Amino acid sequence: MASALLLAVAAVIALGAGHGAAFDPNPLQDFCVADTTSKVRVNGVPCKDPATVTPDDFFFAGVDRPGGAASRRYGFTALPVQIPGLNTLGASHARVDVAPGGVFPPHYHPRASETAVVLDGAVYFGFVTSYPDNRVYAKVLRKGDVFAVPQGLVHFLYNNGTAPAALYATLSSQNPGLVLLADALFGAGLPDDLLAKTFLTDLDTAHKIGAKFRS
Ligand SMILES: *[C@@H]1O[C@H](CO)[C@@H](O)[C@H](O)[C@H]1NC(C)=O
Repeated sequence: MASALLLAVAAVIALGAGHGAAFDPNPLQDFCVADTTSKVRVNGVPCKDPATVTPDDFFFAGVDRPGGAASRRYGFTALPVQIPGLNTLGASHARVDVAPGGVFPPHYHPRASETAVVLDGAVYFGFVTSYPDNRVYAKVLRKGDVFAVPQGLVHFLYNNGTAPAALYATLSSQNPGLVLLADALFGAGLPDDLLAKTFLTDLDTAHKIGAKFRS
C-alpha cells in the first residue's frame, strides 16, 4: 500500500516535470507527417493518413545552394528545410547564407536551442548569456566547425570576411520562434521617448534609428 502510494507520488512528480520542461511534446507514434491541408487546430499540424505516407515526406533537396527568403537589410538568406515527416518530432532545420559584410543580427529563439555547422566560408558566431552577466561566448568558425547556442539566449552571426559564408542550422523545436532584437525594439512603433530612455540616448537619436526600421 505504502509503496503503491510512493509510486503514485513519483508518477505525479514525473508528469509535472514533463510539463514544466520547455521542449516539444513527445510523439505518441512513429511519425505524424504534416497534413498541411487540414483545418483542424492542434499544437502542431494534424497527421496525414499513414497509408498515404511516402519516402518523399521525409525528404528535402537543395541545401547545397543558397535559397529562401532574403534580407537585403542584413545581407543574409534563410532557406527553411521543409520536411513534413518532422512534424511533432521537435526539430527544424535551415540553411543560412551570409554575404561578406552581412550579419544575422542579434536574435533569440524562445523555444529552441540551436546547433550550426559551417558549410562554407568563415563567420564570427556566438551568444550572450542572460542578465546580469551578459557574457559573450563567440568564435570565428570555419568550414566544418560546429557551434551550439543554448535555448533562449541572444546570438548572432557576422560574416566579417571577404568570402560568402553558408551554415546549416538545426533547432530543437518544430516552431522555435524568432525574435530579432533590433526589429522588435525599433520596428514595432514603440514611442521614441521610451526607446531613448531604454538606449540611454536622446529623443532625436532614437527617432533617427527607428525611422530606418520603419522605412
Ligand atoms: C572577425 O571578427 C572577429 C571578432 O572580432 C575577429 O577575431 C576576426 O579576426 C575577424 N575576422 C576578420 C576576417 O577580420
